[in-house]
Amino acid sequence: MKIIVAGDYQEMSRIAANIIAEEIKKKPDLVLGLATGSTPLGTYRELVRMYKEGKLDFSRVITFNLDEYYGLSPDDKRSYHYYMYRNFFDHVNVRPENIHIPDGTARDVEEECLRYDEEIKKCGGIDLQLLGIGVNGHIGFNEPGDELLTATHLTDLAPDTLAANARFFGSIDEVPRKAITVGLGTIIQAKKILLLASGPEKAAIMAELLDDDAVSTRVPASFLLLHRDVTVVMDKDAAAKKR
Ligand code: GLP
Repeated sequence: MKIIVAGDYQEMSRIAANIIAEEIKKKPDLVLGLATGSTPLGTYRELVRMYKEGKLDFSRVITFNLDEYYGLSPDDKRSYHYYMYRNFFDHVNVRPENIHIPDGTARDVEEECLRYDEEIKKCGGIDLQLLGIGVNGHIGFNEPGDELLTATHLTDLAPDTLAANARFFGSIDEVPRKAITVGLGTIIQAKKILLLASGPEKAAIMAELLDDDAVSTRVPASFLLLHRDVTVVMDKDAAAKKR
């Protein structure tokens, strides 16, 4: 694992955007796995800036988002669909047909999960996967448990996750109890992984992940320790408890 500690959130975001931009320049038809949450917002802002300055072209880039809340329609302001368009896709030239986000309103969820994995496979897998991390060590919505699933699936959200994401919903009772997420298999098979962490609330999990050097289904992100090309970019606050 390559670990970069940035001075602050801005610097973390700039470093992350530069890594993504370099990969797109090397491979204009990059298959890019995308994440949501607060952490990558600055990265998206930087990528939008590069595009607007004519330094980056997304016209051949293919994107796959990690997850979507179950039951939220794409036009629901709290959905990850809405988040992605508002913060990124509305401002860059990714072709609509190249954008993939799990459909949280699919009538047949199992079918939707199979379809999503098929689409990823058809595109040759993920080249670069952008990740945030939950306070409980989740990646995407792969929550800690006795086992982790490899394929895209419908999952129950953990109490920690419901509490952490309540800020986007007004109250914890409004947070959907379930989500569709790509599985650990899809994430770990990405050719390159970029994990971002920001803020003091991520310091404990980042210390556990990076200092313990152990793999456990109780810390889904720990499976990244088995991958040969992971770059972690975190700000000082997130790195504060690391030895
Ligand atoms: C969310 C998302 C994850 C994200 C994580 C951290 O619930 N499903 O993909 O990485 O939790 O979010 P944040 O960046 O807001 O702390």
